[in-house]
Amino acid sequence: MSPRPFIVAIDGPAGAGKSSVSKLLARRLGFALVDTGAIYRCVALMATREGIAFDDDVKLGELLGRVRIHFQVVGEENHVLLSGEDVSGEIRTPAISMGASQVSGRPVVRAGLLALQRRLALEAQAGAILEGRDIGTVVFPDADAKFFLAADPEVRARRRFEELFQKGVDSSLAAVLTDQTQRDTADSARTVAPLKAADDAVHVDSSSMPLSDVVRTLEQEIERRRAQRG
Ligand code: DC
Repeated sequence: MSPRPFIVAIDGPAGAGKSSVSKLLARRLGFALVDTGAIYRCVALMATREGIAFDDDVKLGELLGRVRIHFQVVGEENHVLLSGEDVSGEIRTPAISMGASQVSGRPVVRAGLLALQRRLALEAQAGAILEGRDIGTVVFPDADAKFFLAADPEVRARRRFEELFQKGVDSSLAAVLTDQTQRDTADSARTVAPLKAADDAVHVDSSSMPLSDVVRTLEQEIERRRAQRG
């Protein structure tokens, strides 16, 4: 039996730089990238399209059986395919961000997505990077390397605002900060799998660190762990 792929867990709040760091790391290491936030966003998108309320556990439970997600790296971007349809742009709107935060608070949704997240990672060849909120605590408590990426709220909001601006999404810094605070509170306060660092996670504060330094810090730690694993 071939050994399990090397699993890297990267958790942290919205805008801490998880996506940028994970993308670069995955490319440098040749690892698969599983953006678990995108999976919750796809559930919110499906619910929106089907007119299902974000707290309707029965209908959400039924919907989960139909979630078919694949990730495809094209150039610099990690594209998200929902039943073959590229929804990468559509899942990043403020409305879907809020919806994702809401559906992710439903225990039925979290439980229903566990197997999918694990399968997407275990299918990888050499290794997989999973980014999210509960990877090191719930999805892969036995991950080979765990990180908790943080940054000051204002820094995170500015990054998210600039990202939205570049994608042509109409927003303002104040609105992004308000949404972010609301989501941070909901993600941290919920009873199921709240946003929380694993006890054995390496903490990295990216507030005043250039992206390249954050990537280097994580990569060095991953290489150290890989050498240990042999
Ligand atoms: O990382 P993101 O902003 O794309 O995540 C969207 C929402 O999904 C976020 O509000 C919290 C939720 N989420 C979660 O609860 N657990 C995860 N592992 C990933 C995301």
